[in-house]
Amino acid sequence: MNLQDYLQSSQQRHLDELLEFLSIPSVSALSTHNADTRKAAEFVATKLKDLSFQVTLNETPKHPIVTAHYHVDDALPTVLIYGHYDVQPPDPMNLWTSPPFEPVVKDGVIVARGSSDDKGQVYAHIKGAEALIKTTGTLPVNLKFLIEGEEEISSPNLLPFLGSHEDDLKTDVVIISDGAMMAPNTPTITYGLKGIAYIEVRVKTAAMDLHSGAFGGGVPNPINALAKMIAALHDSKGRITVPGFYDAVLDVSPMEKAALEKVPFDEKKFAQEIGVTATPGEAGYSLLERLWARPTLDCNGIGGGFQGEGSKTVIANTAMAKISCRLVPNQDPDDIRDKLTAYLKELAPAGVQVEVIDLHGGKPAMSPIESGSVQTAAKALQQVYGKEAIFARTGGSIPIVSNLQDLLKAEVVLVGFGLETDRVHSPNEKFDLENYYKGIETSSALLNAFASRSSQ
Ligand code: BES
Ligand code: MN
Ligand code: MN
Repeated sequence: MNLQDYLQSSQQRHLDELLEFLSIPSVSALSTHNADTRKAAEFVATKLKDLSFQVTLNETPKHPIVTAHYHVDDALPTVLIYGHYDVQPPDPMNLWTSPPFEPVVKDGVIVARGSSDDKGQVYAHIKGAEALIKTTGTLPVNLKFLIEGEEEISSPNLLPFLGSHEDDLKTDVVIISDGAMMAPNTPTITYGLKGIAYIEVRVKTAAMDLHSGAFGGGVPNPINALAKMIAALHDSKGRITVPGFYDAVLDVSPMEKAALEKVPFDEKKFAQEIGVTATPGEAGYSLLERLWARPTLDCNGIGGGFQGEGSKTVIANTAMAKISCRLVPNQDPDDIRDKLTAYLKELAPAGVQVEVIDLHGGKPAMSPIESGSVQTAAKALQQVYGKEAIFARTGGSIPIVSNLQDLLKAEVVLVGFGLETDRVHSPNEKFDLENYYKGIETSSALLNAFASRSSQ
């Protein structure tokens, strides 16, 4: 059977299998789901074993890492596909139109947590390999899979694993589908990911909560203080005020700037789709530049004081906030965390004690457009979609990518099968059937393209 016929006649089964995968609530952040993350890892392992991959379920202090290898011939190039089977917590539950782990298919769309990020995209690659094996009896390259269960919590156990499995993971190229196309039916290669530095800040004042009438006006208020400190992290031009924050930032080259201006990006549509009435940010940079190529700082959560029904006249003695910075080349997450920590301490008014907790960090990563692997992938996309791939950066982070580049000394190609409108990390996450099936076809095409790459 030829590939097209095989893909066509397998669609229903490919969908059913993905729905089974999506029904496993593999939430990595919540230890109550540890049995489920394991089940998702075992699901991936079993599907790869069924295709005659040599599969290992590698234990870690938290969630298992699935590695698999289909060795064809030493003379052929090796491709490694990285992805993650873990998903973000589904809350707030009441905003889902159907339960997050009971996938629903309606109007050509799968609704379920993890459908786009990243189970649907991982599974498209497994089925892409399957299609080649079933129609040709083998694969055109040596193929490895590295599918982890901790990406959504910053991959704490994958990094040490990479260090001790360099040989097993040796590859010529890494392919990752864990992102989005610029628009429907618009093949996209992502050539830049942001890094991240994430902290929690806690402020403390009095020994206990205080009557706001009896004490107001004479004591420090941790909530007022923290709000002021957070507000002081940006100036009136939207620039981050942390001393030295921009020191290492690599500016966008004039060439890239010109390319960015040609990217099909509709600012009005962007705003409309997410329901905002303004797109504020750092002055002097276009919206796309800010989203893709400028570092940012955002308060992701804030808490303190009375949150119950009605009113309570009280001055709390603690407050907290979660703050993350998205980083661009060549910023270093440890350096930024230290600078932010020092500045928050400096900003604290008298009588306010500040404690900063490091939550996690990851480096930014770039895959130069002119690199051989990116160009090979672009050719495969052109074949499948009948149009040229476009090149995009993203504000999202995949912390392990820079480590994969450094440790495996391999080029990384990011080909997203999802859409920016897939509501990843949000209620009613979805993945279009069309993108799933096209993803499978693209995966096969990518393997064929890397097989016939002349050098390497
Ligand atoms: N798949 C995303 C990263 C992503 C988002 C790529 C948008 C392209 C576009 C990934 O699963 C993710 O959510 N990463 C986290 C990393 C964090 C937990 C360290 C992120 O970016 O918040
Ligand atoms: Mn992801
Ligand atoms: Mn994610």
